[in-house]
Amino acid sequence: MQALTTEQTIAVIGAGTMGAGVAQVAATAGHPVLLFDHVAGAAQQGVSQIQKGLDKLLERGRITAEDRTALLNRIHVADDLNALAPAALVIEAIVEDLDIKQNLFKQLEAICAPDTILASNTSSLSITAIAAALQRPQQLVGMHFFNPAPIMKLVEVIHGLASDEAAVATVFATAQAWGKQAVYARSTPGFIVNRVARPFYGEALRLVQEAGADVPTVDALLREAGGFRMGPFELMDLVGIDISYAVTCAMQAAYYGDPRYAPSLLQRERVDAGYLGRKTGRGFYEYGAQATAPSAQTAPPAPAPASVTVIGDAPFADALLTLIEQAGLPLEREAADQPGDFLILLDEAVLALTDGRMATQASVEDALDGLVLFDLALDYGKATRIGLAKADQTSEAALQEAIGFWQALGKQVSVLDDVPGLCVMRTVCMLANEGADASRQQVCELAAVDVAMQAGLNFPQGPIAWADQLGVSRVASTLDNIAFAYGDDHYRVSPLLVRKAWADKTLL
Ligand code: NAI
Repeated sequence: MQALTTEQTIAVIGAGTMGAGVAQVAATAGHPVLLFDHVAGAAQQGVSQIQKGLDKLLERGRITAEDRTALLNRIHVADDLNALAPAALVIEAIVEDLDIKQNLFKQLEAICAPDTILASNTSSLSITAIAAALQRPQQLVGMHFFNPAPIMKLVEVIHGLASDEAAVATVFATAQAWGKQAVYARSTPGFIVNRVARPFYGEALRLVQEAGADVPTVDALLREAGGFRMGPFELMDLVGIDISYAVTCAMQAAYYGDPRYAPSLLQRERVDAGYLGRKTGRGFYEYGAQATAPSAQTAPPAPAPASVTVIGDAPFADALLTLIEQAGLPLEREAADQPGDFLILLDEAVLALTDGRMATQASVEDALDGLVLFDLALDYGKATRIGLAKADQTSEAALQEAIGFWQALGKQVSVLDDVPGLCVMRTVCMLANEGADASRQQVCELAAVDVAMQAGLNFPQGPIAWADQLGVSRVASTLDNIAFAYGDDHYRVSPLLVRKAWADKTLL
C-alpha cells in the first residue's frame, strides 16, 4: 500500500504534548498540516512550541534556516473543525476520554470526505470501541506515537475490529514515509509496548517489596548489567507514579484481573502519599537542591581468588574467559558432566548463572557446596555491575571469594537476598514471556515485539531476540522455577515458549 503523498493534507487535533509533536513530524515529511485545538490560542501555542524546538535544532546546525521556515510555513492553525475538511488523514491527540473522542470523530465524519482516514493517538482506549459510535467505523485506525513524537521512532499502527485493511496499510506506509518504524498491532489493552513493558516495572517492584534489593540497586543492575538506558524506578519517577499506577490498574482490569498485571502496593502507597515522582519533588527518589542521590548497594573490595576452574560451556562463556585472562587469574578448564552445565569453581565458592531457583534450593538439589548465583548481563564483557546471591548454607567466606572474583574482572558487585531469578534474568524472561503471549494471542508478530520495545522504549535489545540468545528452553525453565518458588500464576510460562523449547527451535 502507498503512503499518502506530500501534497495531501494532514490534520492534527489537540495541540498539547503529543499533537504538536505529531504536527511537526508530518510537516517535516513535507505535508501541509492543519492544527486544531478547542482551547483558544492553544494551537498557536503548539506552533510556538514547535518553533522553539526547531530554533534549537537550527542552533545546533541540525536544520537549515530555509528548512525551518519552510516547515513552519506548512503548519496552519485551524480556527474551527470545519477547516479540516480537505484533510486526507486526521490524527486526534486530545484528552483520553472515550465519549469525547467518539463525539469528535462523529463530527469529523460530517465534515471530512468519506475516504478520509481518521486516526487516534490513544494510548489506552480501544480503537474498536471508539469506532463503534461511527457511521464509517472502517475509516478509524490507531496511530500511536511515543513522546517526544519528533524523536521517538516507533508508531504502533492499530487495527480495530472494523478497521479497513487498506486504511490501516496506508497509515503504516505513511508512518514509514515519515521516517518512523511502524508496527502493526490489534486493538487490545496496552497494544504492544504498554503491555510487554509491564514486567520491566513489575519485577522491580516485586524485588524491592520482598527486600531482594533496594530501589537504587535494582535500577543500577538493570542499567549497568542489563544495558537498559534507565532503571524502572527512575522511569516511573519521570513518567509519574500516579500515571504508571493507573496504567497498571487499567491493564489488570482490562485483562479481567490477570495476576500477571497486578499493581504494586509500593506504587499505591506513594500515590497515597502524593510522592508522584519528579513532578512533586519526590517519588522513589528525592529531587531538588537538597536531595542526595542514594547509591546502589555495592560490595566493598574483596581479594581476588587464587585459582579459577571453568567447567562446561555457555553462550556467554567466551566473554567471561576473556575477562578472566585479562585479569591474569590462573585458569583451568574442565568439561561438564551434563551438556549445557556451566560452573565456575573458586577455592570455596561455586558460581552458576541463575536458573530461576533460589540458590538455597539449587545448592541442595545439585549438591553444590558454596553455591553463589550470578545474574544475567546483556554483555558480560561490557557490564560494569553484576548481581550475586548466596545460598543460606554458603559461607560468608565463599561469598567474599565470589565478590573478589567479579571485582577482579572489573565489575562492581551488588549482593541480593536469595530471590528466585535474581534481577536482570527474571526481568528479561518475563519480558520475553509477555512478548511471546502477545504474539500467541495475535496482538502482533513476534518480530514486531522487538521493534516496538527497542524503538518505543529504547530497550538495548528486543526481548524475543534476547530469549533466543539465552535459549528458549532456558527461559521457559527459569520461569517455571520462579513460578515454583512463588507458587502463583504470575510467572506461568507462555505455551509458545514451552512449545519452542520442546521443539528446540528459536522464536524468531
Ligand atoms: P495534552 O493534555 O498535552 O494535550 C491535549 C490537547 O488536546 C490540549 O491542548 C487540549 O486543549 C486539547 N483538547 C482536549 N479536548 C479537545 C477537543 N475535544 N477538541 C480539540 N482539542 C481538545 O495531552 P497529550 O499528552 O498530548 O495526550 C493526548 C493524547 O495522546 C491522549 O489520547 C494520550 O493518551 C495520547 N498519548 C499521550 C502520550 C504522552 O506521553 N503524553 C504518548 C502517546 C499517546
